[in-house]
Formats: sequence, structure tokens, C-alpha cells
Amino acid sequence: MKKVQLIVGICLGVILMACQTSPEATARSRNFNSDWKFNLGEVSGAASVTFDDTSWRSLNLPHDWAIEGNFDKNNPAGFNGGALPGGLGWYRKTFNMHESDKGKKVFVDFDGAYMKTTVYLNGDSIGFWPYGYSSFRFDLTSYLKFDVPNVIAVKVDNSQQPNSRWYSGSGIYRNVWLTVVDPVHVDHWGTYVTTPEVTNKQATFQLRTTVKNDNSAAVEVEITSRLLNANGKEVGVDIITVSVPAGERTEGNQKITLGNPHFWDIDDPYLYNIETELRVDGKLTDTYTTTTGVRTFRFDAEKGFFLNGKNMKINGVCMHHDLGCLGAAVNIRALERQLEILKEMGCNAIRCSHNPPAPEQLDLCDRMGFIVMDETFDMWRKRKTRYDYGNYFDEWHERDLDALIMRDRNHPSVLMWSVGNEVYEQWAHADRDTLSIEQANIVINFGYDDFQLSNIDEGMNVNKLLCKKLADRARVLDPTRPVTVGCNEPRPNNNIFGSGALDIIGLNYFHAWYDSVPKNFPGKAFLATETVSGLMTRGYYKMPGDSMFVWPYRGEKYKGMKLDPVAENYSCSSYDNCHVPWGTYHENSMRLINKHDFINGQFVWTGFDYLGEPTPFQFPARSSNFGIVDLAGFPKDIYYMYQSQWSDKAMLHLFPHWNWEEGQEIDLWAYYNNADEVELFVNGVSQGTKSKEKDIYHVSWRVRYVPGTIKAVSRKDGKVVLEKEIHTAGEPAGIRLTADRTTISADGTDLGFVTVEVVDKDGNLCPNADNLINFDIDGNAFIAGVDNGCAYSMERFKDNKRKAFYGKCLVVLQNNGSKGKAKLTATADGLTTTSLTVRAK
Ligand code: GAL
Repeated sequence: MKKVQLIVGICLGVILMACQTSPEATARSRNFNSDWKFNLGEVSGAASVTFDDTSWRSLNLPHDWAIEGNFDKNNPAGFNGGALPGGLGWYRKTFNMHESDKGKKVFVDFDGAYMKTTVYLNGDSIGFWPYGYSSFRFDLTSYLKFDVPNVIAVKVDNSQQPNSRWYSGSGIYRNVWLTVVDPVHVDHWGTYVTTPEVTNKQATFQLRTTVKNDNSAAVEVEITSRLLNANGKEVGVDIITVSVPAGERTEGNQKITLGNPHFWDIDDPYLYNIETELRVDGKLTDTYTTTTGVRTFRFDAEKGFFLNGKNMKINGVCMHHDLGCLGAAVNIRALERQLEILKEMGCNAIRCSHNPPAPEQLDLCDRMGFIVMDETFDMWRKRKTRYDYGNYFDEWHERDLDALIMRDRNHPSVLMWSVGNEVYEQWAHADRDTLSIEQANIVINFGYDDFQLSNIDEGMNVNKLLCKKLADRARVLDPTRPVTVGCNEPRPNNNIFGSGALDIIGLNYFHAWYDSVPKNFPGKAFLATETVSGLMTRGYYKMPGDSMFVWPYRGEKYKGMKLDPVAENYSCSSYDNCHVPWGTYHENSMRLINKHDFINGQFVWTGFDYLGEPTPFQFPARSSNFGIVDLAGFPKDIYYMYQSQWSDKAMLHLFPHWNWEEGQEIDLWAYYNNADEVELFVNGVSQGTKSKEKDIYHVSWRVRYVPGTIKAVSRKDGKVVLEKEIHTAGEPAGIRLTADRTTISADGTDLGFVTVEVVDKDGNLCPNADNLINFDIDGNAFIAGVDNGCAYSMERFKDNKRKAFYGKCLVVLQNNGSKGKAKLTATADGLTTTSLTVRAK
């Protein structure tokens, strides 16, 4: 009897399953990344339904075609753009709509495509978006077919370059979603959750929900908002009803009070969710989830930054959006790995320089406890490169600013908006025009209802006006966060400061001006929005370590320091003794930031090396030297200086390596914390015990090289805290493979980052090795990229081989969507072959 029941049950289950569509296919937001066709180059008729794309390449998004290319001096981006190809690409995808979606509203959501994206559905042009970093949505509903397949075609045009001061990537490099909703739904980015009243005992959540009614008749909509804690347990609820006229929007306002809130903090990034349900006549029409958190913060003009009542410095880094050898193609694990490396250093903040980040970056910052400075533009109306966004600014800036703030204003990690970086409009001489109100209206194209012309003083400088417009608009959309701009004109007559529109004075560099900030900007909070710009090549040391090299050479001031960068083999020293003239060295910036309580913190340029801007070099140099971490994700020595200052964890880092010319004078440095002193030994002989002096964040020794072993011992109250040993490495003999994780997810996107080291017969890293390593993969993964952090290497990122650079390289494995093992084998001439297995679950 039981057996019969079981069989009937199974049959019923199978029938039910056959009638149902997969949860993914019926979800509100459906991943639209798979099964695209791609062609690099212009093709006539490519938007048409009948166009034959069978010969095009099949791929899944996100996709960056530039990273697949070869470095070339003649690529239009130039070395500042990464020397990789641009061009124009077409994407096409054929898809079927399900019967159950009839009568629904259907949108396509692009998280980002670079750049000038035109979208066609079934041959009709349905929208264009020029800015390559914004997220945007188009309504597909009236163009969709249910009886035959639909064809979406997307043209992405990055052929006119340079259009950026760094590597942008090319293509649909972020995720794409198909959003399918009932005509009565939560509008695009339609929830706004704030916590206007917060104490330790109680937090009030204010929920604003914009309901869109695309029916032809008015509806009464019941909005249920539930507050869920991190375990998914309901801890508050509110229900209201709003009337929404046909074709219109209505905002519902609700409040939920929560006792004993669990705060979101950098060390304990606790998250709540608001689950919103809409009902018409008792029938559920939409469910929408908003992640939020409870925190208080303030930027103070005298005491600096406070998070949840606690005074602290913003210890941040600037980051560009590329992911090294993966290019701009967004990948959650690659972003997460960058943040893990930075977190381990003690970093607590990210500046998304100088454009809107991928939404996943902010999700990770929420989840991992990073403060975010969320930035819109690197230029306003005045272009920095010939084909950049400045050409579109007048017509598009309102939509792009709105898109950033509407998309990002629920993230607890985002604590400030930046409406620009070093825009040329800041300079007093940039535009002497003063305008009549009518002229201002034309030039700046006032489109916002709430920015009335009556707000404008007749004869106001157009650039001040523009700053005021952008900052005011940010505050209208989100009155809870301050607005800043990263400026590099430090004088108060800077148009941006002069506009009075900024909540936080943001200054890039000009470290020597910090002392005069309280006098120049009385009562204003101050943040060092960009600092340092140190130049370093991992593994390369220019001695003496205590001599400063300032590049690129600029005039008399740096006389005696002039160096020929090319003769230096495109390399910059790792002893914190090399930086650009407008910046300073890392320890100096640290000292100046620590000196004043009123400085809210800093964002170091940059956390990671990025593609493009290889200052102070030119081609074949093609990626930056500014990072604390190199392009492959290997920390440079300076990483440990930050760790010693920004983190509480006991650490000790001794450098450089111990392979030199016999008798050579070598500078040995150590970074440490949680100790009073460090003693250095060379082959067991003490070279003295040293302690950090005030405002100096390292200790150093100058010793003659003899092969053998160096050892640093840190002590606190006479007791050993840590020891570090480095041995002279022998000839390269083998390869060491170390995976960041040996088990990854079988979701087709997860990555295994494998560090490859050339070692001697005893396992010591060979610090100068440059062996070519070949990779072979057997199993359920493929090579997503290879790198070694060398900023002037012409080797391809998409390859199955890489030369070691100062002993190391990286291979990134990507799961292919199935479970099981992938075996990576590394071989090189003269070295013992090594393998490693990564499992996907
Ligand atoms: C800054 C700029 C950054 C980067 C940096 C290099 O002035 O904002 O984008 O170019 O210089 O030092």
C-alpha cells in the first residue's frame, strides 16, 4: 500500500513539475546573462529579427572583449587606457516568453555596458544610454511577442577613444536582468529605507515605497512591509493602503519601530531586510526585498568621523573597477577577494573612483563592513579626454546622477556621495562666464522640478551653479548623506568650494595644505579624498631605501632626483621611496592624517593596481604602479605598513628578500605592531634592536650581504611576539601552487585564485625568478585569466601560460557549471611539475 502511494506521489510530482516552470524562469528578477551571441565589429542589419547570427561567437555575460585582446601601442585607448583594443560590438540573444508572463510588465535592466549602448527588441530601437558606468532600464512590454521567439540586439560602441583616463573595458561587462512584474508593482529602485531616529534602545525605520500602476483603472494597493532580522525572523511589520491612479505612481509612507537594534558596523556588518508585498483585492501582485542596516554617522569639522558614536578615522583606499586579468567583466568572487585582501590590511573604506560601481560591489561592502564613498563622474561639462562623457554631460547628467543615488541609497555601507573628481570646473579661471538666469537655464539644462530658477542668483558663475545643482539634487534624493567632490585646487576660491554646496570639503593630495584647512574652511568637515600616489613595483628595490625618488620629473624643485624612468626598466622601488610630485610617500601621508583630529580620514590612491595610467612610464607600460596590492592581488611591502597601523592583529614583515651580490650593502626594513622592538639577525648574529620613532612607521638596518638567513624577532615586554625568517634561495627547482580556496561553488561563475611560486629545492621563494609556467586543466574548470602583476608585460591575460614576475604569478580558474574536481597542472622547463585540485560543490 505504501509503495503504491509512493509511486502515485512520484507521478504526481513529475506531472506537477512538468506544469511548473523553474523558479528562475518565474522570478521577478531573472538573470539574463546566458546564451548570447557576440560579434566584434559593425554589421549591417544586426538588429533585425531575421539576421543570421549562427556564425557569431556564443558567450555568457558579463563580457569584456578588450581584456581578450593583445596589447598594442596603436590601440586607440593608448597606454593610459591600458593599451588594449576598443571597437564596436554587437550582442544578440533569442529568448521565449512564458505564457504565464502575458499581461505582465517586462523590463530589461543593464547594470552597466561600456559605452554608448543601443538596445533593440525585435528590430525596434528601444533605448540608448551613453554613460558606460550607469545602471539603466528599458521597458520591453509593448515590443514583446509570446507566440514566437524574441530577439534582443545590443550595440555597444567603444570605438572612439580615448574616452577615459584609465582602462574602461568594452562590452556588456556587468549583469543583465529581465524584470517581470504585475502591472501593479514596486517601481524601479522604488523603495527608500532610512532610520531617522536611532538610539541604543530603539530604531525607527522609515519606509517610502513607490507603487506603479500600469493598469488602465485606478487601484487601491495594500502595502505590507515586514522587517526581518539577519536570521530572516520578522521583527516588525506595517500595513497601509494607498490609491494609485491608472498609469501613475503613488508613494506609500510607513514606519516600523524596532527595539534593541543590532547596529551595522565595520567589524560587525549586521543587516536587516525589508520585505515589501503589494496586494490588490487581497491578491499578491509584487514582492520586493530591500537590504538595510542601522547605523549613525557624522563627519565633524573638529573631531573627525564618528560611526555609531565612536570616533575613528576613515582608513580607505580608492579603487578602479577593473579586476586585473579578468578586465572589467564583473565577478562577485573577484570583487570579494579584493575586499578580503584589503580587510586583512585593516582598510575600512572604499572610494569608488571615479564612477558608479557594480551593484555587487556595494552588496559586498554592506556584508563585509566597508564604508563607501560612492562617486558619479570624473568630468562634468569640460572634457578630460577627447571622446569622454563630457560630450554627453549637458544632456545626460541628471539621469546619471539620479540613477546612482536611486540605485544605491539603501546601502548601509554608502556614507557619502561624491558628485565629481577633479572636474575642471573647479578652477577659478576655468570659466569666467557669469550668466543671466536664462543663459544658465540653457547651459546647465535645468530639468529638475525642485531646482527652481529662483534659487539661482543672477550673474552666478556657471560652474558654482552646476556644483550647487548636483549637490542639491543629491540631497533631494537622499537627505541622509553628505555630499562631497574630490578637488585638487586647494584654495577656497575654487568654484566648487566657493559654491558653498559641499557638506564635506574633499581634497586630493596637497598634503601640505592640511594644516590650513580649519582657517580656509571654518566649520566644514574635511576629508582627504585622495592621498599618496606612491609608485611601487612588487619585488623591485631601489637603494638607498631612505632616498626619495620623485617621478615624473617636474622642474627645479626636484632637481637632483631626475631619473630616466625607462632606464629603470619600467619599475618603481618598493621601499616607500618613490612617488609622484603631486603626492607624497605613504608614511608621510599616514603621519599627516594622524596629526589632526579634524581630518575625517583618507582614501589612498590606490588599494590595487589597475589597468591603464602607468605613471610615470609610457608604453609598453600599461597598468598602474600606484597600488598597495599589485594587479594580480599580491601585496607589495607597503601593504604591511598599513596593516601595522590600521589593524590590531600582531604582525611582523621583514623585507626585501635575501638574494644579492656578495658584499652589497642592503637596506632591511621591518613593519610591525603589538610589540616594543624588533631585533635583526644575519646568520645568527644580532644587527641590533630597534624601535619605531615617533611618526616613523618602520625600523631599518643597513647590512652587508652574505648568503644565509636573516631573521627578525619582535618582542613586547621582553617576550617574543613574532619571528620572521628569510633564506637565501638556491636555483629554481620547483613550483608551489596555493589556492585561495580548495572548494568553490559549482555555479559556473565562482573562481579559484591560485598563487604560483617558483621555489628552490628547499621550498624557498626564488625572488628573481621569471620562468615561463604552462598550465593545463583537467576537469570542470577553465582558465579565466593569468597575471603576474608586471605592469609592462605584453603577455596576454587570457592564456594558459605566464612568466613568473619576481618569483610569482597567478592563474584564475573558473568553474564551468558542473560539480566535481578540476586538476591544475603547472609545468616549466627545468622545474618539477606540480598539480593542485580544486573541488566545486
Ligand atoms: C589624481 C586623479 C586620479 C589619478 C591620480 C594619479 O589626480 O584623481 O584619477 O589620476 O591622480 O596620481
